[in-house]
Amino acid sequence: MKVLVIGSGGREHAIAWKLSQSPRLEKLYAAPGNAGIAEVAQLVDIAAKDQAGLLKFCKKESVDLVLVGPEAPLTEGIVDRFEKEGLTIFGPTKFAAQLEGSKVFAKTMMKKLSIPTGEFEVFTSAEKAMDYVAKKGIPIVVKVDGLAGGKGVVVAHSLPKAMEAIHLDMVKKVFGKAGEKVVVEECLEGEEASVIGITDGTTVRLFASSQDHKRIFEGDHGPNTGGMGAYSPAPVVTPEIEKEILEKVFMPIAREFRELGHPFKGFLYAGIMVTPQGVRVLEFNVRLGDPETQVLLPRLKNDLLEVLLAAAGGRLSEVKLEWKDEDCVCVVIASQGYPEEYETGKKIAGVSTARENPDIQVFHAGTKQKDGHLVTAGGRVLNVVGSGRGIFEALSKTYHAVDKLFFDKMYYRKDIGYKAASVSRRAPGTRAPEHQST
Ligand SMILES: Nc1ncnc2c1ncn2[C@@H]1O[C@H](COP(=O)(O)OP(=O)(O)OP(=O)(O)O)[C@@H](O)[C@H]1O
Ligand SMILES: [Mg+2]
Repeated sequence: MKVLVIGSGGREHAIAWKLSQSPRLEKLYAAPGNAGIAEVAQLVDIAAKDQAGLLKFCKKESVDLVLVGPEAPLTEGIVDRFEKEGLTIFGPTKFAAQLEGSKVFAKTMMKKLSIPTGEFEVFTSAEKAMDYVAKKGIPIVVKVDGLAGGKGVVVAHSLPKAMEAIHLDMVKKVFGKAGEKVVVEECLEGEEASVIGITDGTTVRLFASSQDHKRIFEGDHGPNTGGMGAYSPAPVVTPEIEKEILEKVFMPIAREFRELGHPFKGFLYAGIMVTPQGVRVLEFNVRLGDPETQVLLPRLKNDLLEVLLAAAGGRLSEVKLEWKDEDCVCVVIASQGYPEEYETGKKIAGVSTARENPDIQVFHAGTKQKDGHLVTAGGRVLNVVGSGRGIFEALSKTYHAVDKLFFDKMYYRKDIGYKAASVSRRAPGTRAPEHQST
């Protein structure tokens, strides 16, 4: 089996690492990949957005399966194009990918299917949006409709902040077309978690739960980032909540897309808020999360290639996902200044020492080889991932490995997993078994 993974971050390294363990794998390619992915796959120098280039490569090399990591190629229709050319590619079509590409599409569908989510209104006029905000009061959430690299959502705790967001989105048009429509949404209070499912259009299998840390500073303060760390499982997602999410969120979505004549094939990620009033869906993504993938795949017992082939072939009902009864933690090592300005090209030391413990993986996010040295090449540089019996063991092993790493102006959060640690006081191994979806 020849497989191509599209993307170049820590998520794609984790995917490539897991796929490389499959006995059915003959050859693994990654486009464009990074210095870490190069250890398990052959890098192909084609950008993730170069659909024509990728298509040509897949045909030339007779690639059997393509997996897309990031959202942009999916919302741009890479799956439709590759399928039309007879290739096997696992992911949602352009139509189905609107669930992530348009907040208006997602919220409208949730409303239609009675999926629990925050109350909202959609606006195409800044004036009307501002009137609504003035009427509703604060706190309130303003979201641009389209993709905005994680920067299109403002949780406003003051009226001027909410008005400014609307002004920037709709008058100044800082996000271009993505901000032509805006969703103004009720501000929900509670604990967030990520629930990811894989579906062949009919059967849905939920992955273990996870939680990420989006903010740059400890205690979940400061601006949002691509993710500064993650852990799995997320204790806030109890087996009851997991079952509810499967039945009230994932199954209705899968049914709706089938009925619309566009079955949803791929990964579906629900960002949820567990509130005192119950679970609410904050957003959908149509791919695996980053850095959630980095803590999920080390826990997955199944052969990922087998799972992907079954899902791509409409045989997911034959697959049962199994998870190791251990906790997994990811600490993202970033360049100081991220998510704003940061420097690159810094020599990285200690990766092989950090990896000496077999329970530790060091996935690469923004790295490259330069003159025989591993150097930084992005805001998020490395992902240190550790497994253990219980969250405390996982955290202690992971931070021990982090201590072995060094580069100039390296930054990471020291409080990853603090919410899980504060609720998980049970003895290791006594956790209730994770729910298996049907
Ligand atoms: N209704 C809400 N109430 C409170 N907080 C919210 C609400 N909606 C979003 N948020 C906060 O804003 C963050 C980003 O929102 P959302 O996930 O919709 O945006 P996104 O840009 O698609 O994010 P991502 O980059 O993770 O895909 C959420 O993780 C959550 O912390
Ligand atoms: Mg999103």
